[in-house]
Amino acid sequence: MTNHIQYETHSEQETLAFASSLSPMLSAGDAVLLEGDLGAGKSVLARGIARGMGIEGPMPSPTFTLMIPYEANGHRLYHFDLYRLSDPDEYYAAGLDEFVGGDGVAVVEWPGMAELDPEPALHILIERGAGDDTRRFTIENRGVAGYAPRTLTRWRCDDAE
Ligand SMILES: Nc1ncnc2c1ncn2[C@@H]1O[C@H](COP(=O)(O)OP(=O)(O)OP(=O)(O)O)[C@@H](O)[C@H]1O
Ligand SMILES: [Mg+2]
Repeated sequence: MTNHIQYETHSEQETLAFASSLSPMLSAGDAVLLEGDLGAGKSVLARGIARGMGIEGPMPSPTFTLMIPYEANGHRLYHFDLYRLSDPDEYYAAGLDEFVGGDGVAVVEWPGMAELDPEPALHILIERGAGDDTRRFTIENRGVAGYAPRTLTRWRCDDAE
């Protein structure tokens, strides 16, 4: 199915490169929703997107602060980790909804904790593969205008259409 494309990487470094290739496809107002178990690679993917946007330096986990903002070259990225959210109301009470579909790219770990379903968004499911360091990424695009799967063919692992 052309709107559920699968990609595979075999190391953290390769995921960083794959994620950096997504950065130029993303514009302010786009969201990237990351689904996957603990340790799947959501934070690695978020870091790769940030690096691709020119954001350098450490990226501590937003687990307790829920969101950390970054900025480089006039581009903003909001990195969310909603794992510790007790319920969706807390997300709205904290005013976090302002940063999804706003003036930057929102990259969200555990979006289900706030029942988030924004558009435009790339939905990325991360699953473990055969080897310890194998990760499979299933991307579904819901309205991100710049998404260009052709530039990601080197990581593609399903049968090309
Ligand atoms: N191909 C790969 N891509 C990404 N990470 C990999 C890969 N192979 C191994 N890893 C390792 O898997 C781990 C991924 O951790 P990461 O913090 O990104 O997970 P997470 O999905 O954000 O988990 P959490 O839900 O706890 O936030 C890292 O230790 C990383 O080195
Ligand atoms: Mg994480």
